[in-house]
This record gives sequence, structure tokens and C-alpha cells, in this order.
Amino acid sequence: MEVKTSLLDNMIGVGDMVLLEPLTEDSFLENLKNRFDHNEIYTYIGSVVISLNPYRSLPIYTPEKVEEYRNRNFYELSPHIFALADEAYRSLRDQDKDQCILITGESGAGKTEASKLVMSYVAAVCGKGQEVNKVKEQLLQSNPVLEAFGNAKTVRNDNSSRFGKYMDIEFDFKGDPLGGVISNYLLEKSRVVKQPRGERNFHIFYQLLSGSSDDTLKKLKLDRDVGKYNYLSLDSAVVSGLDDAANFRTVRIVGFMEDEMQSVLELVAAVLKLGNIEFKPESRCNGIDESRVKDKNGRVDLLVGSVLERAFSYRTVEAKMEKVSTTLNVAQAYYARDALAKNLYSRLFSWLITRINGSIKVTKTRHKVMGVLDIYGFEIFEDNSFEQFIINYCNEKLQQIFIELTLREEQEEYIREGIEWTNIEYFNNAIICDLIENNKNGILAMLDEECLRPGTVTDETFLDKLNTVCAEHQHFESRLSKNSKFLTDHSLPHNCFRIQHYAGKVLYGVESFVDKNNDLLYRDLSQAMYKANHSLIKQLFPEGNPAKVNLKRPPTAGFQFKASVGTLMGNLQTKNPNYIRCIKPNDKKASHVFTESLVRHQLRYLGLMENVRVRRAGYAFRQPYEPCLERYKMLCKKTWPHWRGPAREGVEVLLTDLQVPAEEFSYGRSKIFIRNPRTLFFLEEKRKQCLEDLATLIQKIYRGWKCRSHFLLLKKSQIVVAAWYRRYSQQKKYQKIKSATTVVQSYARGWQVRREYRKFFRANAGKKIYNFTIQRIMQKYFVGLKNNMPSMSPVDKSWPARPYLFLDGAHAALRRIFHLWRCKKYRSQFTEEKKAVYEEKLEASELFKDKKALYPSSVSQPFKGDYLEINKNPKFQKLNSALDDKVLLADVVSKINRANGKGSARIFLLTKKSVVLADQKTGQVKASVVLSDLASVSVSTQTDGFFALRLKEVSSAVSTPVKGDFLLSSEHLIEIITKLHRVGAANADKEKINVDISDEFLVQFKHDKVCVKFIQGSPKNGNNASCKRKNNRLLEVSVPNTPSTPSTP
Ligand SMILES: Nc1ncnc2c1ncn2[C@@H]1O[C@H](COP(=O)(O)OP(=O)(O)O)[C@@H](O)[C@H]1O
Ligand SMILES: [Mg+2]
Repeated sequence: MEVKTSLLDNMIGVGDMVLLEPLTEDSFLENLKNRFDHNEIYTYIGSVVISLNPYRSLPIYTPEKVEEYRNRNFYELSPHIFALADEAYRSLRDQDKDQCILITGESGAGKTEASKLVMSYVAAVCGKGQEVNKVKEQLLQSNPVLEAFGNAKTVRNDNSSRFGKYMDIEFDFKGDPLGGVISNYLLEKSRVVKQPRGERNFHIFYQLLSGSSDDTLKKLKLDRDVGKYNYLSLDSAVVSGLDDAANFRTVRIVGFMEDEMQSVLELVAAVLKLGNIEFKPESRCNGIDESRVKDKNGRVDLLVGSVLERAFSYRTVEAKMEKVSTTLNVAQAYYARDALAKNLYSRLFSWLITRINGSIKVTKTRHKVMGVLDIYGFEIFEDNSFEQFIINYCNEKLQQIFIELTLREEQEEYIREGIEWTNIEYFNNAIICDLIENNKNGILAMLDEECLRPGTVTDETFLDKLNTVCAEHQHFESRLSKNSKFLTDHSLPHNCFRIQHYAGKVLYGVESFVDKNNDLLYRDLSQAMYKANHSLIKQLFPEGNPAKVNLKRPPTAGFQFKASVGTLMGNLQTKNPNYIRCIKPNDKKASHVFTESLVRHQLRYLGLMENVRVRRAGYAFRQPYEPCLERYKMLCKKTWPHWRGPAREGVEVLLTDLQVPAEEFSYGRSKIFIRNPRTLFFLEEKRKQCLEDLATLIQKIYRGWKCRSHFLLLKKSQIVVAAWYRRYSQQKKYQKIKSATTVVQSYARGWQVRREYRKFFRANAGKKIYNFTIQRIMQKYFVGLKNNMPSMSPVDKSWPARPYLFLDGAHAALRRIFHLWRCKKYRSQFTEEKKAVYEEKLEASELFKDKKALYPSSVSQPFKGDYLEINKNPKFQKLNSALDDKVLLADVVSKINRANGKGSARIFLLTKKSVVLADQKTGQVKASVVLSDLASVSVSTQTDGFFALRLKEVSSAVSTPVKGDFLLSSEHLIEIITKLHRVGAANADKEKINVDISDEFLVQFKHDKVCVKFIQGSPKNGNNASCKRKNNRLLEVSVPNTPSTPSTP
């Protein structure tokens, strides 16, 4: 949606002076100052733009600004020169209305800048394309040339235009520029020969000297030094911020031919050189001094020297077909020189403009025109002369046109809008224009009359004439006029007259009025110029052509000006005017300084108060119905927020509802007209209040909406969250209940089943459970036992502990079974021989274990049997062969002597059948006993090796003579006895040999029975037992305490 804005938005002071309340000069000034202080340099008076020179660049002319103001209505945005330019351009393009933009203001107020801004805005918004751009460029490029030749540094403005300029820009039907025409007014040519203090000549002179090449200067016979030229002021030859050399370069580009440019520069040089010509008096015979050119070298080379010299010495006056030549004195010669220089320069300037017009001329059919007038405003100096008079006349005319066009426009609008025309009171300055320009008795006519009158004509005679003719005029004041009221007015000098312009009173000194109006160039001079060797000079002075001698005086300056102003006004009258009134805020060219007195002065002579009054004469404010309704519709309930009917009715309803007095407004066809600004401000104030309320309302609704939508979102979210949470918690609860139910169910079922089957349980269950448990325990026991089996060694005594008491018996039995099994396993590894050995050992154990103390020491000794290796040893071969049986045991034993108890070594042999004793040395058999003859064998209980072989009482089979029993001692006692016992047992036919074990037994020695007694004695003879015969009946064997370790055999 497009946002409708208005000038009235964010206004600083009032943007349109028409709305000023109360309207006084002070409030006007105050408003301007207030806005200026806030960088608002533009203010409107209706459609007129007041522009204050900011003297610094403001960021308000950017392309963005151009876009902002483009195609917007005039009152839509804050005041700006672009708004005016846009309005003008659009009504030119869209409504086919020719436009003129009138820019006035005093020197340095910003007129030229304003005209450039307007042109650049139009250039920016109008069509684009190669052709169009070329035209735009040409139009904009005419400026540098015009500024170089027509502008100068003055005390008020470093780049002051010293001519009035009117430029018509021509457009085609689409609004694209085609070209233009420039007109110039009143170049200040006196500046060529003389400049006020602190000012300069026209820029071009300085630009030429500083900017052209050495070559060019040489060709032009010029010196770069400004000081060499009389016409150039020295004190401000260099202006800060003004680069003459650079500007000179821009002068060249404007489609000029090279030789044309050269000619122009030659003329500029000629002016400079003219200024250097000096004169000296030369006495003539008639006593009159005649002037002569002082220095022949100072000639202007373009001109024919002698002709020119003559022209500076003589003057030809033609009257009634007669030519009279009069001499010129030095002063007259200088006057003539300066007049020539001024004329030459101003004609050159006019020629330049014609030339530029030639190059920007429109060839196609033009359609619409926009004129831009950049002309000096009212000038009120201390000394005002002819120029000021002319300029102020021009401004009167502009004011006239302003009044005329504004009123006309106003009237037309009223007619268009069908509003009754009420007479407007305002000051019409037509009467002042009439005072100046009236053909019969106007001041200009009087002046012309004086100038043309034969006889002595002076400025005084001119004033006299005015005093008589204009005395009665309300706006004319002179000391010596017939009007006696000025006779005593000491502010009015005698040689002055005063005009009450619409912008204030101005006092003009009459001095040189006549001269300046005449603006004469002696014919001798123009003829001399015509004779010059230079086509451009010739062209500039056509009246010097002798073939075209015209005795008619050329038109006076006043006349010419009046004519051109007349044409201009005629021209402007056909166009729609747009005004820009430029104001200079201070004299110092300083930014941010607002000198009230200076501005007050300007607003007076620019007639701005008058402007406002004219503008406000009818209705101060008007606005089409639509925007008006749009802007104020919120003030009435019926029109807010929408009015469905026509806008006009809406406005009527609105104003009636607001009780605005009926005389305050009128309804036009398309616009509402408001008489007083205060009514508008009343509406604005109401609107502001209402907007605040509306803003609050909008804010309220918005906040409500925001909170509500936020709340709804929260609520929605809460529902979602709650739903999810409920689902989750229900799920959890359900699962809990479910598992609880299962438990309860299982209990219940269990209970039920148990109740059902209790009888069965009572009958069987106990037994079954018992069996099952026992089985389980047994299983566990056996598996545990299996895993903890002791080693397979038969001597290993370990056995796992019994786990249950009731298993005691089984555990012990198992242990026994395991042990037996282990032994069997062990035994099954044995060979026959080993078995026999173990059987022997077993037998030894049966015989001696716990009966004889020697036994334990024998357990570890293997039973070798044949200790003598009887078969292998050749020593025993004979003995061996004497035996008829296999030797089971062969050893050396000691045979105890029966008499003394001493032992002697004998070989002891055992076979299956008998025991043989042989001599150890000889191997001769000493005794042989058949086993069947052996009654028993006696041994002690002690550690000794003594044993007694006891024979049966009646022995038949003894081969040897009976000598009784044998008492022997052997280290292998256990082995010998065991084997002996075994052999006896093996023989089935025989009785077993008894083995007696006691410490006291009887032995049959021959016929005696001797008791062998074993006692314990202290160890003598080492550890061996010793035998001693005590008496006939007792043989005592003393056995050491410690068990004897059998000595190695
Ligand atoms: N709108 C503006 N913005 C900035 N500076 C300005 C503006 N108008 C004028 N000036 C300054 O003031 C000086 C005088 O302006 P100018 O247009 O030459 O005055 P005038 O033509 O009225 O004599 C300019 O050179 C420029 O420095
Ligand atoms: Mg200017």
C-alpha cells in the first residue's frame, strides 16, 4: 500500500508561508530562520519556492532524492526545488503547458545554482537515449562558456553572473529535450574597463592568461603576467576555490571550430591590449589640446593602427548632410577607448550567445517549452544608478507578471471549481510599471526624449524634466518636484529621485543616466573597427560599413531594454510560471549564519510578504477531495474507516460533523477551499490527536492479537504435551497393572491349582520331592567328587570331605573302593619278577612287621638274592657246580663261634632244597642243610642281624656230621629269613619253617643247649651288635640302642 504523505507531516515551523499565523514580517522571518537552522533551506509560498543559500553542500540533491521527488505531488513531500521542477516538468509533459521558471534574488543568493539544479533535475527525469543525452549534454555544456565570459568575481559572489539569462529548453511531445535558445540581458559591460575594489574583470581574461599554452600566448602576443594589463585588477587576480586554468579547458568543448575559438581569443586579447593604449596631449595652433597615442608599440595588431589612432583624435559629426570634424582631448580619447573596449566585449558576448544558440538550435518541430530565467533581483545599493534602475524595472515587471499570473490562475481555478469570485485586496504594482515605461510620460520615455533632444543635454536637465512630468505620481519622489512635501526631505539629495517600488523605496542618482542610456560609440570608431583585418570584428561592427551609413541614431539602452523586457514578458505570459525566490542569509558567504536584517531587507524587496498576501487573498489552502478525505477521514465516525460514497460528500459530512463554520470553506468542483490557515491547523491538530489515539488503538489491537495468538499457540502446545504425557503415564500405569495382574493371577491360579491338587500332593508329592531332592543331592555329590578326585598314587591319603552326614558310609566305602581300584591299577603295571619281589616283600612284612625292630630299615632295601654273583664269578664256579639246584640267595654271613661268640665269614647259599655254608676263601662247602631238616628259625625283636637255624631233633638227611644249630649274623637278615620261609612254604610236601621272634631262645650246640639272650647295650664297636659267651649256657648279644644301619655288603 502506498503511504500517503503530506507537506504537513513533520513540518519545522510551517512549510508553506501561506499557512503562517499570524502573518507578520517578524513571524515570516522567524519561520524562515527556524527552518534554516534545521537545514530546511526551502519554504513555499503556495507554489512559490523560497530558497536560502546554505553556503555549503547539503545532501539533498542526490539521485535518491531525485527518485523521491519524481512523480510526486507538490504538497506531498517537504518543500524542495525538485518538487517545483517535477511539477513544472510533469505539467509540461502531461498537460502540454509551456512552463517558465523564474529565479530571482540578489547577487550570491543562489540563482544560478538553482537554475542548474532545475536543469539537472529535468535532465535526470526526462527520457534517455543517445540522441537525448547528446542534447542534454549540449545544453548543460553551454554553461561553462557563458560563465567564463559573463561571470566575474564580485564582493558578493566569487562566480557572479554579470548578465541576465533566459534559456528556453524545447521538448518534443514525449517530453524529451530537443534543444534550446538562450537570451541574455544587460551584460554589465562597464566591468571590462573598471572593476570595483576587491572585484575582478570577467573570468575569461584571467583564464586566458593562466590557462593557455605558451604557444597560444605568443601567437596572441600576450604576456602571462596579469599586472601588465590596465584592465585587469590586481588585488584579487587569484580567487581561492576558483581554478582559472582548469575552467579555461572546459570553455573549449562546446562544439566550436578551432579557428572560431582562435578568433574569439584574439578579440579577448584585443580588449586587453586596447586597455594598454595611452594618450598624451598635443597642443594645436588653435590652442586646443589634441590627444595622441603615446606609444606606437602599444597598438592593437588586429586593427588598422592609423585609422584607429585617428578615431582617438578626431570625431566626425554629421549633421544635415554635412560632416564636421572635431578634435578629441586626452580625456575624450580615453573615454572613446573605453567605450570601444566595452562595446567590443559586449558585442563579442552577444555573438557568442548567437553562436551557441546556433549549435543548440532545434531543427525538428518543437512541441513544448520550458524557460528558465536567471536574472538579478531587486538591487538597492547606497548609490543606485541607471543599471539599478533598469534592473529594478525588470523586477517590477516580473512582480507584475507574478501578480497577474497568480491572480489569473486563482481566478481560473475559481471559475473551474465553480466558486464565487470575491474581490481580493492586494497591492498591484502596475502603477509603478506605468511610471517607468509609459510611452508618453514614463521615466524611460523622458530619458529617451532628453537624449534625443538637440541642445545641451545633461543629467540635471533630465531630472528637471522628471520633476515636472512625474511630480504628481504617487510613487515618484524628488526634492525639487512640484510636490512640496519633499522640499524638506533631507534624505533626498538634489541630484536624485526616489521611486517607491513595490519592494521598497530606492534612491537613484541621475548622474550618467543620459550617457549610459545613449550608449554611443562614435561612428569613427565603428568605422575603424570595420576596417580591421579580422572577419569577426568586421561582423561585430556592421554599422561601420561606409556603404550602409545610417544617419538614424541607434536605439538607446533604455529603449532596447524595455523592448527586450517587453518581449520577455510577452513570452512569459504565455507560459505557466514557477517561481524560485533566492535569499542570501548573510554577507560573509558563511554557512549557518542567518543575518536577520539582511534577510528582512531581501524579503521586503523581493515582495515576499506581498506574495503571501496575494496568495492568501482568497483561500489560503485548497486540496482535492480525495486526499483531503484520506487525510482527515479519521476525524468523523461516519467517514472512518471507509467512506463508500463520493469523496466530496465525505468531506462535507466530515466538515459538518466537525462543526467548522461555513464561511471558513467552500466546496469547489474537485477541491475543498479553506479560507484560513487556522482552520487547516485545527484539522491538523485534531488529526494528530486522533492519530495518536488510533496508534494506541492499533497498538492495543496488535498487542491483543499478538498475546492471543501467543496464548493460543501455548494452549495448543499444552494440549499436545498433555496428550503425550497422559499417554505415557497411562502406558506406565497399564504396564504396572498388567504385571501386577499377572502376579495376582499366577498366585490365584497357583492357589487354585494347589487347592485342586492338594490331595495328590499329600499322597505322592512328599516322596517324589524327597526322591528328587536326594537325586539332586547325589548328583551334586557325585559330580563334586568327580571334580575333586585325589591323585592316582596309592600312598596318597587325601579324600574330599564328606558333604552330608547321611553319606558317611558311602563316602568311606567309595574311598576304599577307589583306593583298591587305584592299587589294582598300580599293581597291574607290575611284571612277573617285580610281582615276585613284592610278594617277597609282602611276606617279609607278614613275618616281621611290628615284630622285629630291624624290619622298617629293610623295607626300602630291594631283595637282590645273589649278592655274590655266583654264576659269573669264576671264583665260585666249583662251588656252584657242586650245587644241583639254582641258587636263590648267595651272601656272606658271619658264623658265630659257639665257643667265644666271635664271628667268622661264610658264604651262605640257599636253594630250593637246602641251605649251604661255604668257606669264603676257598669256596669249600662247610655245611649243607636240607630244608626239610630245618625245624625253625629264631631271631630277636631288636635291630640286630643274628638268626639261628634250628634243626629237627632227629635228622636223617644231614649229610654233614651233626654239630648242632647254626647261629649266624647277616646284614640281609630279613631277606634271608623271608626267602627261607617262602621256599619252605613252596614245597608242598614239607612243613612250613617256623619263625620264632623273641629276645631269648635256646640253641643246640652239639649237645648243649645254650640260651641266646639279647640285651640293649651302649653302642660299642660302632653300631654293630656284639656277641659274648657268658657261660656255658648263655650267649649275650648286646644290641646298640639306636637301630643299627646295616653296613654295606
Ligand atoms: N543550493 C545550494 N547549495 C549549496 N551551495 C549553494 C547553493 N546555492 C548557492 N550556493 C553557493 O552560493 C554561491 C553563489 O551562488 P550563485 O548561484 O552563483 O548566486 P547568484 O547566481 O544568485 O549570484 C555558489 O557559488 C555556491 O557556492
Ligand atoms: Mg548567478
